[in-house]
Amino acid sequence: MWSGRFREPLDPAFEDWQRSFPFDVRLLPQEVAASKAHARAIAAAGILTETELSKMLDGLDRVIPLSIEETGKNAGAADAALPSHLAAIVSLNPHAEDIHHFVELQLTKLIGDLALKLHTGRSRNEQIATDMRLFVRDAIDQTLEGLLAWRQALVDSAHAADASVMPSYTHLQRAEPVLIAHWLLAYVAMLERDFTRLTDCRARLNLCPLGSGAIAGATLALDRSIAAEALHFAGPTANSMDATSDRDFALEFTQALSTLGLHISRFAEELTLHSTAEFGFLDLPEQFSTGSSAMPQKKNPDLTELIRGKAGRLQGAAVTLATIIKGLPLAYNKDLQEGQEPVFEAADTIHGILVVLPAFTRALRFRTEVMKAAAEKGYLNAMAAATYLTHKGVPFRKAHEKIGQAVRHGLETGRELNELSIEELRRFGDEFGEDFFEAITLNATLDCHDVVGGTARNRVRDAVQDASRRIASDKASLASKKSAKLGLESAALV
Ligand code: ARG
Repeated sequence: MWSGRFREPLDPAFEDWQRSFPFDVRLLPQEVAASKAHARAIAAAGILTETELSKMLDGLDRVIPLSIEETGKNAGAADAALPSHLAAIVSLNPHAEDIHHFVELQLTKLIGDLALKLHTGRSRNEQIATDMRLFVRDAIDQTLEGLLAWRQALVDSAHAADASVMPSYTHLQRAEPVLIAHWLLAYVAMLERDFTRLTDCRARLNLCPLGSGAIAGATLALDRSIAAEALHFAGPTANSMDATSDRDFALEFTQALSTLGLHISRFAEELTLHSTAEFGFLDLPEQFSTGSSAMPQKKNPDLTELIRGKAGRLQGAAVTLATIIKGLPLAYNKDLQEGQEPVFEAADTIHGILVVLPAFTRALRFRTEVMKAAAEKGYLNAMAAATYLTHKGVPFRKAHEKIGQAVRHGLETGRELNELSIEELRRFGDEFGEDFFEAITLNATLDCHDVVGGTARNRVRDAVQDASRRIASDKASLASKKSAKLGLESAALV
């Protein structure tokens, strides 16, 4: 690829060590698509005749089938076959330095010396930048789909939970009763933010670096819109130095995933806690739990524990990328090659999580009686009780104090607020009336939170519907993007 100016061969250990082919092989579909787009651009600039262009496009279309065929494995359905063939492709091609080199080698086998014209007016620096953008764009779409599936599962569970209640917690101490649906929708709210973060990232990255050259722009007067359109980018990038060295899109992607990972890990932690004997809020679904080889009675929450652990990897990917980019002089530096694997790992990690999480969420069975009992004990209606007094004209600070005294009396005599007599209550304030007991029932305690975003039953019913509507509209907008996709997971490329 570049040996012309060298007198000495590479140190064999160094040669092997500096290769990126063992991991960038997974950019094979992206590299082929980008090469086809570039071929069209240089043909328009007069470097290839029409016949040469069609030979070259045809050759590029055969690169993936040839590579699979060489592995000697049955190709099967083209799109399903590729990933399992990657390792074999790598071991069969120990001299391919990277994916760009490999595709040219394969193309040369297929169409001979004409393949050598493909590299006219381009550089691997813009190629890797383009391939990575294409990869991240697809990975975002896949993540958005997974997020939608999980949102749907959460909203369906919220719908099914109907008016069932649970205690809510602050400081991990019981606070006020809430609807189980309200708690589930808290996660939906987080996921909606994750969804928009990834959607924003997708829109920002959707520009084509091809035509940026090695650093200063292509040495041919290329019409950059040709490659951009062929790859379904919104247009060409604005600055060649930035385009060849920018990895913001990868950083943003991993950072958005790291935030998503934090959300998922909070969910995982709550369910891990809720499944303990101490909480007893749910039975872990057996399909998603394992036993202990030592303790016969155990059912362990492996799924939620693994998710908590995997969220750590997502943090790691974002930190690794940021650290690689930090202080890097413009423009391309080989350090950037190290930024690929964290992106792949993060994409794989989130994909794995989002494959299991919706089904796990649907399989959850809450012990609603236990949750309700927990919500009815421990004076969780004390805020509602204080609010009752404020409606009688008592300033809240005073109401707080009076209910605090009533709670203390209840604690001393082993009773809840609704078990105190009106006479006892009046010791703490003559504002207490018979209607006090209606104001502190479980339902009243929920329904006094009748504000947008509150846990009153009517509000939550509406919130479930709103969340469903937003899923439908996000689904529609994702489907419209997908129809404009390259289908890079498949060997049959544009
Ligand atoms: N394998 C390289 C990477 O992933 C491709 C770009 C190489 N460019 C260069 N000037 N050596 O970053």
